Amino acid sequence: MKDKTILITGATSGIGFQTALALAKMGAQVIVTGRSQKTTEEAVANIKSASGNSRVDFLLADLSTQKNVRALAEQFKARYERLDVLINNAGLAPSKKELTEDGVESSFAMNVVTPFLLTNLLRDSLKKSLSPRVVTLMGGDVPAKLDMDNLQSEKSFDGLNTYSQTKLAMMVLIYEFAQREKGVTINICYPGQASTNMTRSVTPEMLPRAMRWMFPVFKFMTRDDGGKSATKASRSSVYLASSPEVEGVTGKYFDTNCKEAAWSPAVMDAKTRGDLWKIVESLV
Ligand SMILES: NC(=O)c1ccc[n+]([C@@H]2O[C@H](COP(=O)([O-])OP(=O)(O)OC[C@H]3O[C@@H](n4cnc5c(N)ncnc54)[C@H](OP(=O)(O)O)[C@@H]3O)[C@@H](O)[C@H]2O)c1
Repeated sequence: MKDKTILITGATSGIGFQTALALAKMGAQVIVTGRSQKTTEEAVANIKSASGNSRVDFLLADLSTQKNVRALAEQFKARYERLDVLINNAGLAPSKKELTEDGVESSFAMNVVTPFLLTNLLRDSLKKSLSPRVVTLMGGDVPAKLDMDNLQSEKSFDGLNTYSQTKLAMMVLIYEFAQREKGVTINICYPGQASTNMTRSVTPEMLPRAMRWMFPVFKFMTRDDGGKSATKASRSSVYLASSPEVEGVTGKYFDTNCKEAAWSPAVMDAKTRGDLWKIVESLV
């Protein structure tokens, strides 16, 4: 991987951090994004010392607003000649409905609009690579149906169900992207459940009502394990970013064991894909 330049969003902690570390250990040039200068500098220093790779760099951006996503893409293009692998890792599972500066519901903005916009903005940099790859991280359960009337929680906000719907919307869009884009491989992976800042911030109210009694079990399963589960969860993104086995493979969904998995029926529905593409395109 020594000749590869890789950009990973949200790599200051959790799965993104472990993904960046693993790819740095393989010798790649790794650029991580973060929101806070201090946290991001610390993450970069830790990746450098644990990997022995000095080619680890960072760009700062709060990815919840489109202005910042555009600025990030511009900074990347100004500094780096090409992009071999883009990993859309940053994600959000909010506890309540909030709108971003752009007036978009925050999880729809972070989990759908941002990867769509960033991937589009970096297409030219990706096309300068001999074998460009885009890897995007899926959430938990994959719902069968996308609620097109509630994409931005217009009707209701429902904790982790809302998060799953935004991740399904992202899958629908990324699959469509892979159909339209030639010369760049675009795949999705499910990392598996890991103890990270995201899962440790889940509150009982975010679980589906019928499952709230299980909250202590969920809390136990996501207790701080010093990055062990996040390291395991980084396997599928590292695999899609680096393995020769997936060279040229595009439009596929891989599970936590790096095995190809079935798409949700919503992804296979061409009308859903076309309608969602138009909606998100109009938002950006
Ligand atoms: N953990 C799981 O069990 C699990 C399961 C399935 C899928 N996933 C997916 O895996 C990905 C990584 O999640 P994680 O569990 O590793 O969570 P995490 O530890 O909370 O990491 C999330 C990363 O995204 C960044 N981020 C959040 N909001 C941001 C914003 N507005 N602008 C820029 N960066 C932002 C965070 O940066 P800060 O340091 O600035 O907060 C952090 O680096 C997500 O896409 C998530 O949906 C996780």
